[in-house]
Amino acid sequence: MGLEQLFANNRKWAEETRAEDPHFFETLSHQQNPKYLWIGCSDSRVPANEIIGLRSGEVFVHRNVANLVMHTDFNCLSVVEYAVNVLKVEHILITGHYGCGGVKAALVEHDMGLIDNWLHSVSVLAKKHRPFLESAPNDTDRIDRLCELNVLEQVRILCENSIIRHAWLRGQPLSVHGCIYGLRDGLLHDLGITISSLAEVEERSEQALWALMERFR
Ligand code: CO
Repeated sequence: MGLEQLFANNRKWAEETRAEDPHFFETLSHQQNPKYLWIGCSDSRVPANEIIGLRSGEVFVHRNVANLVMHTDFNCLSVVEYAVNVLKVEHILITGHYGCGGVKAALVEHDMGLIDNWLHSVSVLAKKHRPFLESAPNDTDRIDRLCELNVLEQVRILCENSIIRHAWLRGQPLSVHGCIYGLRDGLLHDLGITISSLAEVEERSEQALWALMERFR
């Protein structure tokens, strides 16, 4: 199959959207005003807008394999900087998903190429929590536990970044949330970590980690 169908889909979508709101594209072409930044996995089964029912212009999106936030990743940090400093989003959702292939790859110890470097921090995280992961009844659960741990870790890393810290220091309203999406049921779950100020970072991170561990005890 070529791309014909995609262009046909696009024309239909543009037409339907215009029928619903004749000024939709005209208005959006002048500005975007999203209140949310979504940092999620590249996995094709985790489409940000669809999952949370938002239209064009309503969510700023960054996706990479295993939804990682790294202090050396200019791509992710440029997105965060623009979202926070210019768009002034009020909520950042770091969204992992169960059964994540990237997280799974970080857990198995064989050479997968370049991706091993990208996923290195997830491997380190897995080693740090080895007893907790090994107490899982099977591989699927083990991966899912690491998917959750990974989200909590990324929330903490993001909150330690200067872009977020500076926003909080100047009093800008901004909350960072950790969520996880279920491929099997299409449901998004709040992982119980919401951080809205510098003072909350350490305590909320620890509480959420403790709650996660408790849930599987
Ligand atoms: Co994934």
